[in-house]
Amino acid sequence: MGIPARASPQLCRLLLPGGIILLILLYLASSHLPELPHSTCLWGGRPCRWLGDPAADEGESGQAAPPLSQPGQTPGQPPLQTAHPPCQQGPHFHIRCLRGAFAASVTPSGEVLLGEYLRGWKELAKFIDSLGTAFGLVSRETWQKITIMQDYHSGQHGAHYHSLQSMVTFELANGLVDFHALSSTRPPSGCRTLLRLHRALRWLELFLYKLGTTEGVPPSQLCASAYQEALAPYHSWWVRQASALAFVAMPSRQELYGILCEQEQRVCPTLLATVRVISQVYNSTQEVYSAQNMLGLP
Ligand SMILES: *[C@@H]1O[C@H](CO)[C@@H](O)[C@H](O)[C@H]1NC(C)=O
Repeated sequence: MGIPARASPQLCRLLLPGGIILLILLYLASSHLPELPHSTCLWGGRPCRWLGDPAADEGESGQAAPPLSQPGQTPGQPPLQTAHPPCQQGPHFHIRCLRGAFAASVTPSGEVLLGEYLRGWKELAKFIDSLGTAFGLVSRETWQKITIMQDYHSGQHGAHYHSLQSMVTFELANGLVDFHALSSTRPPSGCRTLLRLHRALRWLELFLYKLGTTEGVPPSQLCASAYQEALAPYHSWWVRQASALAFVAMPSRQELYGILCEQEQRVCPTLLATVRVISQVYNSTQEVYSAQNMLGLP
């Protein structure tokens, strides 16, 4: 019944470009339906793994990862003290909220507070959402990881998920971290989930830095080169192709400044200050993962 094995390499070569375009069209069409379960997102028959890794078999744990609609409701967390309207409400990205949350996430002693870290990530996820439907894949994976971490943070063992450091201590002491292969029988650990966010944070840090320090280079190119540096090494061929196409559809520099700084001008004064804060969070997190030899968790 099947195609003879010999014919398939050539056939593949012929069908691949058309297939990719078809998949993209299907994907773009499907991204208009935000309620689609995560498992329906497929590239070439493989589940989409954007913040995951090439070994696509991650414990799905049935999380469809809807955007966290009322993040302000998490019990036990004081509201952000700010003269502006409270952050985290509504679908719109505010760079002020991003910087505030990430700045508050690192204590003077270098502890990374997960509550604030996740607040920062929810803001970043809103930013990704505002980049358009081509980023739907990235957005879904991001929200999924945030949801997993949020569940740990407000769950049964929430006290141990107060900071990155306490999480690492707790998960290592209880044998919850898979160092060799991802277990298919238990949910992904906080350590491996946060590592995916951590790598993506580097991508966004690099992208925003490049955006704030260059002129005349299209953002799509900056985003692609940040991706090459920070994330591509961890991604399968399919995900790299999908990402490349998403970047092509990226908003213009002026539009990005509109999103990032609420002003469509050539300057965005808060951008580089925000990048510095992100860099600080990234560095503190990197230090912890590196000290525990956990930078390559499957
Ligand atoms: C983070 O680390 C890099 C490399 O070690 C360094 O160049 C950068 O200045 C650090 N960022 C901050 C905000 O300290």
